[in-house]
Amino acid sequence: MPQIKVTTFDSPLAGLDVDVLLLPVFENADSASPWEALDEALGGRVGEALGSRPFSGKARSCLAVPLPAGGELGEVLLVGLGKVEELTPTSYREAIASGTSAAVRRNGERIAIAGRDDAAAGAEHAAAATEAVLLSQYRFDRYKKPSKDATQLAELLLPEGAGVGDAIERAQRICRGVAWARDLINLSPSDKRPPALADLVADVAAKVGLRCEIIDEARARKLDMGALLAVAQGSTTGPRLVVLEHAPEAYATQAPVVLVGKGVTFDTGGISIKPSAGMDEMKADMSGAAAVVATMRAIAEIDLPRRVVALVPMAENMPDGDAYRPGDLVTAMNGKVIEVLNTDAEGRMILADALAYGVSEFSPECIVDLATLTGACVVALGEDVAGVMTNNDALSAELVAAGTRVGEPLWPLPMFAEYDKLIESKVGDIKNTGGRWGGAITAAKFLENFVGDTPWAHMDIAGPAYRTKAKPLAPRGGAGFAVRLLVDWLHERDAG
Ligand code: BES
Ligand code: MN
Ligand code: ZN
Repeated sequence: MPQIKVTTFDSPLAGLDVDVLLLPVFENADSASPWEALDEALGGRVGEALGSRPFSGKARSCLAVPLPAGGELGEVLLVGLGKVEELTPTSYREAIASGTSAAVRRNGERIAIAGRDDAAAGAEHAAAATEAVLLSQYRFDRYKKPSKDATQLAELLLPEGAGVGDAIERAQRICRGVAWARDLINLSPSDKRPPALADLVADVAAKVGLRCEIIDEARARKLDMGALLAVAQGSTTGPRLVVLEHAPEAYATQAPVVLVGKGVTFDTGGISIKPSAGMDEMKADMSGAAAVVATMRAIAEIDLPRRVVALVPMAENMPDGDAYRPGDLVTAMNGKVIEVLNTDAEGRMILADALAYGVSEFSPECIVDLATLTGACVVALGEDVAGVMTNNDALSAELVAAGTRVGEPLWPLPMFAEYDKLIESKVGDIKNTGGRWGGAITAAKFLENFVGDTPWAHMDIAGPAYRTKAKPLAPRGGAGFAVRLLVDWLHERDAG
């Protein structure tokens, strides 16, 4: 991730020493009035662009305004916000992200973003703009160096104001988390097999002051984690269960929120092997794990005042002579016997043991799991929206609300008792697949068997975890979906 310095200014806009100044403009704003002083200093160029050479202000449109030579300010870029009444936190971030990308394409290395022209709160604007800029400029260059003449943003200037410095600092810490999640997802699956991924997580945990414990294969066997071990059987590397804990001194004995993330480092499907087309994307099958560890990093860095534990089961799902097979009966840590009907339904297997361990070891206040669990969820909700399934509607509603605030949409799917029948097994306690229909829900119903009475929500992020096309806030590849959602949810839960 390129290092972008974020600072503030309190001088007049016309005197800013930057390559590009972004001016956010509404579609139905009637004049250049918010920028009167700037316009005057620039000989009326901004007013001209907004008036006689009309700039529509449509959401995410941009227009460069040529300036008289010799000034400090290189260029003004008008950025359309769309209609005032249609503005949302997401549309605002996307407009700023598009404007930033346009500025960088125009060789902007130092840019400034003026405050929104409806006198929005300074700190809120600063946080949103910082996020939009840092997330849109994320690049993954571990295996392919950026071309030498590609411009990279080096510095961002935002208007000074009450609380602005803290808001920027906080947004930077959260975006560091998101970028790390993206990095982990984008890694070659050969570079993040369970032992290696566990070590990568442990290194960062040590750096930011999270307690970290790695449960290896031998330990998992002692703990009777039969479902996690079964999935890992086909791989030449054993599974891992990484435990991270954030417990500020004053909260050391608080019942924690437990986060669980699916960490299948590569999903071939196992003996129920997947078609080869598109299988490369299954390197992203640890996106739930990435979101959870990145959230822990972010809350450690912002010093969140509450206890949170993360459990990250990691396994590689491979076909092999030792692989688990359809028909196998496998006993999970809580004693339930799983009839394996499809080895490609491996995510719910490794989550089963992690959830059971979370409940018995930590007596959590609530437990939230994240997983790229089913293609069925993508069929139901599309690629941009995650599904949420729960035994506690209040918890699910909190998560949906957080998703709306940060622009990471989440939508509930029902958990009627009727679905339970679909996973009843004649030879064991439950089957690991529920047939053709309602696949996202029967997967959630399976997980429900491992959480007891603990308030629990399951987020199926199979759609939004990995982007096949770039969006304003993310290039193609790992999205780091749900890091901002979880941080915001945890923050609000204690604040509200
Ligand atoms: N990792 C996949 C789900 C997935 C599919 C994630 C597409 C992202 C994009 C999961 O392990 C899986 O294979 N699920 C099966 C379940 C089925 C065998 C019951 C599926 O969705 O087909
Ligand atoms: Mn699978
Ligand atoms: Zn999978």
